[in-house]
Parts: sequence; C-alpha cells; structure tokens
Amino acid sequence: MKVIYDKNYKVFFGTDVLSHLAQTLIDKAYSRVFVLVDENTEKYCLPILKPYLENFSLIKILSGEQNKNLATASIIWNELQQNLANRNTVLLNLGGGTLSDLGGYCASTYKRGIDFINIPTTLLSMVDASIGGKQGVDLNSYKNLIGVFKHPEQVFIYPQFIDTLMVSEQRNGLSEIVKHALIDDKKFFEKILSTPEINYTQLDKWIEKSAKIKIQIVNKDPHEKGLRKVLNFGHTIGHAVETFSLMTDSKPLKHGEAVAIGIICESFLSFKTMKLDGDDFEKIIKVITSNFEKYFSSWNIDELLKIMQNDKKNNNSEINFTLLKKIGKPVIDCNCTSELIIESLDFYKNVAYKHL
Ligand SMILES: NC(=O)c1ccc[n+]([C@@H]2O[C@H](COP(=O)([O-])OP(=O)(O)OC[C@H]3O[C@@H](n4cnc5c(N)ncnc54)[C@H](O)[C@@H]3O)[C@@H](O)[C@H]2O)c1
Repeated sequence: MKVIYDKNYKVFFGTDVLSHLAQTLIDKAYSRVFVLVDENTEKYCLPILKPYLENFSLIKILSGEQNKNLATASIIWNELQQNLANRNTVLLNLGGGTLSDLGGYCASTYKRGIDFINIPTTLLSMVDASIGGKQGVDLNSYKNLIGVFKHPEQVFIYPQFIDTLMVSEQRNGLSEIVKHALIDDKKFFEKILSTPEINYTQLDKWIEKSAKIKIQIVNKDPHEKGLRKVLNFGHTIGHAVETFSLMTDSKPLKHGEAVAIGIICESFLSFKTMKLDGDDFEKIIKVITSNFEKYFSSWNIDELLKIMQNDKKNNNSEINFTLLKKIGKPVIDCNCTSELIIESLDFYKNVAYKHL
C-alpha cells in the first residue's frame, strides 16, 4: 500500500488498502458505519468491500448525473436521520464521482458535518472526484451549483474496482488524466500520446501520477482563489455541453465525455488566443480523437452561451476560461469573445475521430 498524500487527510493507494480501511474504522471507534452505494456499486463493489466491514447500514441511491440533485440528497439525509446517525457516524462513499459528490455533500451538512471516507470505484473518481474536497449537487441540471468545500477523512483507492467498469466509463476517466497532464506535465502527456491502445486494467502508474497532480494543486489553493482554477481547463465548455445534454438528451453525455469535448474546444481557443503551438494543438486533438467517440448534437449555440454565462466560475459577466499557452503551462482567468467560442464549437463539429 502506498500513502500518496498525508497532510490534513490521507490518500491510500494499492491492492491492500481495504484491510487498512478496516483498521481505520476500528481505530476511529465510530458509533455507526453507513455505506452509500448505487445499484452498480452494490452489485460489483460491495461484495469486495463487505468482508472488511463489521456492522454497517446500507444507503442505496440511483446512479447517474440526473440523480445528483437535492431530491437524492434528501433521501440520504432521511436515511441517516431515520437510522439514528449521530456526530460519531461515518459515511463510506462507495462509488464514482456522482456518488462521492452527493455523499460528501450530505455528510458535510448533516448535523453540521459528520466524517466521510471516499472509496472511489471509477477511474474518474480515483484520479479526480474523490480527492480535492469539492462536494455538491446540481441544480436544474446546472453543474455543482450547490455545494461545500470539505475534505474526506481519508480516501482509499483500490484500483481493481476498475475491472468491472464498462469500457465507456473507463474512457470517461481518461479525460481528467489527459487534463492533468496538459496543465502540469508535458512528459506525462507525451506518454499518453505514445500509448496506442490503453489497457485500463493496468493503469496504476497513471492513476497515482494523476491523483498526485491534483492533490499538489489543491494543496496550494484549496478554495479556488487562484491556482486551483487551472483544474478547470476543458471544463467551461465541458460543463456547458454536459448541462445542455442533461437537459435535452435521453442518454446524456457523461462528465468525462463532455470534458473531452471541452478539451478540444478550449485547446482551439488556446491556439487562437494564447499562441499554443500548432503541433501541440494537433497532438491534443489526436489523443482525444483516438480514445473517445464523436458526439453528434444539434447544439443550440445561444443556449450553450447562456449556460456558460451562468457558470459558477465566472467573476463578472465575462465567461471565464483556463487556457494553455504551452502544454504544462496553463493560464487562468482568460476571456474569449462569443464569436470565438462559437468557432471552437464549430471546429469540434468538423474534427475527424478515429472511432466514428
Ligand atoms: N468533486 C470533484 O472534484 C469532481 C471532479 C471531477 C468530476 N466530478 C463529478 O464526478 C461525476 C462523474 O463521476 P464518474 O465519472 O465517476 O461517474 P459516476 O459516478 O456517475 O459512475 C459512472 C457509472 O459507473 C457505475 N460504476 C461505478 N463504479 C463501478 C464499478 N466499479 N463497476 C461497475 N460500474 C460502476 C456507476 O453506477 C455509474 O453508472 C460528475 O458528477 C462530475 O461532476 C467531481
């Protein structure tokens, strides 16, 4: 087992983390242990976790971003209250980023805050959502509008959980790995670029590297006053297309798929306004187009711009972007004209993908 972070909370990584989790629960002498699952993590992940737990109460919610809202939060709060959760209770979030955002938010607000421990079960949550201390829910499909900053007590990353993920969900996590490489580490990006067929069950090194990049950045600016905004690369347009898809598609885009689109569009903006090198721009396009599937949508551009204007990352009426002047050199607080944003979305529409 590796300890990949050890300051105000701990992040453990490896095949033997679950026995350490069991010991932690004993050491902390919690009065009650609750485990939050969705229908998939109940089926695939709970049987792996169960042998390490003594007594626990199960709270089950429905999976999917469309359920990351206050109605589901109410279900969790009610379950906690009806099962007599007190301040010495811990909530174990066994799931992907949707579940840990919800569970973390509910734990942080129930009785003014009880402990929660994240046990991420998707690639995306291992490298991103389970660490960093942002907890929250969507409001009217607008992403993460209600939430708090609060770190988990501990995070246990057990990489084998990825084995039961659908391929589309494995790919979903790649976009945040690519983003971390693009904002911090050109060599890491080149490594991803030079890997033609990614084996998602052998990604331990990338998971560790990617999680460490996020942790380092969050450590320097936990409340996103400045530096942490670099993590938003790909997320202004990414969140807008994700929100639009949630509002209009019967099978909405996944977060990571939306971020992959955002990475293409915001690299285009970087190329046009920050002098991002043309070769590097093409390399970014190549990584995304060879690992993701193309998304075809009849976007309503006015609606997308409206969603971006309502983004919580904006400080004034301007839409706020993090862009790249080089790979590994992000620039925060950039603004672009509506015309250029529309051009970037048109660029996405015309870009050729390997898997059409
Ligand atoms: N808080 C943060 O800092 C942060 C950062 C990035 C993303 N996020 C949020 O994370 C969410 C996306 O998270 P996600 O991509 O993990 O999706 P997810 O949590 O919705 O999980 C994706 C699907 O995989 C299933 N699943 C989970 N683990 C499984 C397993 N081991 N085997 C089989 N199926 C499994 C889930 O039930 C779900 O159907 C978004 O809401 C996004 O906003 C938060």
